[in-house]
Amino acid sequence: MSLLSPPERVDIVEVAPRDGFQSIRDPLPTDEKIRCIQRLIDAGITRMEIGSFVSPRAIPQMADTDQLVAAFADRAAMRFSALVPNLRGAELALAKGVRELVFVVSVSESHNQGNVRRSVAESLEDLARIVALLKQEGNACLRLDLGTSFDCPYEGTIAWHQVDDVLTRARDLCGDLHLEVALCDTTGRATPYQVANHFSRLVERHAGPRLKWAFHGHDTYGMGVANALFAIHHGATTLDAACAGLGGCPFAPGATGNTATEDLVYALNGGDVDTGIDLARLLEAADAIAALPGGQTASHLRQVPRGRVTSPP
Ligand code: COA
Ligand code: ZN
Repeated sequence: MSLLSPPERVDIVEVAPRDGFQSIRDPLPTDEKIRCIQRLIDAGITRMEIGSFVSPRAIPQMADTDQLVAAFADRAAMRFSALVPNLRGAELALAKGVRELVFVVSVSESHNQGNVRRSVAESLEDLARIVALLKQEGNACLRLDLGTSFDCPYEGTIAWHQVDDVLTRARDLCGDLHLEVALCDTTGRATPYQVANHFSRLVERHAGPRLKWAFHGHDTYGMGVANALFAIHHGATTLDAACAGLGGCPFAPGATGNTATEDLVYALNGGDVDTGIDLARLLEAADAIAALPGGQTASHLRQVPRGRVTSPP
């Protein structure tokens, strides 16, 4: 048996302001969002998906993303990103000063149709236009979120070669652009072994200096932390998580929130993996998020007496 050696550092992308806040039916007041985001920054979060530039009719909860971007425009140390489903979203995000775009396309046709009302091929046509835009801009970068990379609420299990197919087509469009690719467990149904299988096969096929890997997990089946750990042991260097486990995707029936950031940080602290996050302060942010009216949260660490959570054995 060989000993596991964890990476020295993992980037955590806090996605509660996007994946989490979009799940609360009545849109939160912008000031309330700003207070939560500030608490997350105080806890040491340095990468955050601050919102999305989507149709306000599709997701009214994200309609104030431009105001959030403006409110935190002076934070030079922060890497804020925003999800965009189409060219229009990318244009709006760039015009508002967002430098990191998260383009979402699902591996399964039916989820892509449900989520962004177009085929995978049509989404990829928009990706090509966004890549051209980013090349013009020069100083902006791209994250590719491959939704339903493991399981689709309509089509069931997704095989690694289906992900490979969409990723290969997407990479052909990206040329020499630096890219962070996230395999997204949209439904939270993946197991650690499926995560390990997908990452090892895809990393082998797509290895290269311009490509980084991320895992975006939901905790529906309680696999979130284990899945994230298997991901970083098979090539991922970035993990998405939502403080307090806030969430539930409107286009993935039955799915609950992202893996709770605090649960993940506790596990990573146990391997001396540097995240830059202060767990005690993150729990304070989690308490504030859990107190938001209408939110569904799921966090193990919040249930444990505080004196016992900050340092793993
Ligand atoms: N931002 C803001 N408004 C947008 C937009 C964007 N990125 N894209 C389209 N719109 C507006 C259009 O201007 C149009 O407005 P109008 O009716 O006032 O003229 C309206 O939305 C419909 O545009 P259309 O291009 O026909 O889009 P659609 O109705 O086919 O919807 C999406 C497609 C992608 C815009 C929509 O499904 C969407 O925003 N989905 C987001 C899904 C999401 O965020 N899921 C969770 C994350 S995985
Ligand atoms: Zn998600």
